[in-house]
Amino acid sequence: PLPEDVHTAADYAAHAQRTLDPMAWAYFDATAGDGSASRANRAAWDALKLLPRMLQSLPGLHTECQLLGRSWPTPLLVAPMALQRLAHPDGELAMALAAAAQGAGMVLSCEASLPLETVARAMLGDAARGPLWLQLYPMHDRGVTLDLVRRAEAAGYEALVLTVDAGVRAQRDAERRAGFRLPVGISAVNLPPPGSAVPMGLAERLARAPTWDDVAWLQQQTRLPVLLKGILHPLDAREALRLQVAGLIVSNHGGRTLAAAAATAQALPAIADTVGGAIPLLVDGGIREGADVLRALALGADAVLVGRTVLWALAAAGAAGAAHALRLLRDELALTMAQCGIATPQAAQASLLAR
Ligand code: FNR
Repeated sequence: PLPEDVHTAADYAAHAQRTLDPMAWAYFDATAGDGSASRANRAAWDALKLLPRMLQSLPGLHTECQLLGRSWPTPLLVAPMALQRLAHPDGELAMALAAAAQGAGMVLSCEASLPLETVARAMLGDAARGPLWLQLYPMHDRGVTLDLVRRAEAAGYEALVLTVDAGVRAQRDAERRAGFRLPVGISAVNLPPPGSAVPMGLAERLARAPTWDDVAWLQQQTRLPVLLKGILHPLDAREALRLQVAGLIVSNHGGRTLAAAAATAQALPAIADTVGGAIPLLVDGGIREGADVLRALALGADAVLVGRTVLWALAAAGAAGAAHALRLLRDELALTMAQCGIATPQAAQASLLAR
């Protein structure tokens, strides 16, 4: 049963905090340092004010979006988030069913707690679903990456998302304070079991950190489109275009990597200028309501990824909760579009924003 006092997706946060054990909550809620990048994400969306157009004729208003040569029901995707069985026993399976039911996309984390094949089977059966992508980290052991790529291809994933902003792992204070450890029975089942966790010095970590060569290498291994996630600098966007990546996701990892990072709404316009519509552009970080989606579209994004907002709903009420949260976001987006005189996501332009 869905909680009766949830009127917007972010209302699920309080329920999740009550439902989850404190260690799981600390893991989901954790940010780098003092959390300033995740607060900045929220503040930057809030600061963007819309200039609605009145008296527009809007029959046939829809939220359909185009990505990688196909049309999808909504410009919403579930962001890749590790270990969703920490949130709910049905984990990523529930999340994928929820996404499919609401026409949203699903980006499965390579650190998922269920087999990637199980999640694909659940999602691909739904004709009204959104895109299904697999997220990878550039790993030191390329054999492990290749194995995941082949499995993703065989299972029907439609693109790979290479997350490039966590090459050097952050310290997450709240997580450390909570003494985070994985409960028995939950792990990143698609990856080989972690070896002995001998802490590495910075020099050693830097020697193993990924570079642009890892992007080019991955592109050579597969015919699946490769998108990059975690781009904030326009010069990186330019380099990505040079390598002919299939798309970019402007992200600061929900504020979980670099506390002093720019808000994504702040970084997006310069990247949209660089990309100039040549490849799909997505953004995430702090998307909590439909108006945030419209703000992102107006800044030049083609679609958005939703992280914690939908994770909270999964934690509070499983697949039904996650589907409800996505439904609320989708309906709020349509309503906000109508209020602004916009009939399609593509019609959202910079002129919609107050200077
Ligand atoms: C993440 N994120 C993430 N990103 C990624 O590329 N691979 C991953 O495995 C994870 N895991 C993960 C776990 C948890 C608990 C969170 C909250 C986040 C980052 C995620 O994809 C996304 O960038 C942010 O969550 C977006 O910010 P919001 O929507 O949570 O504010």
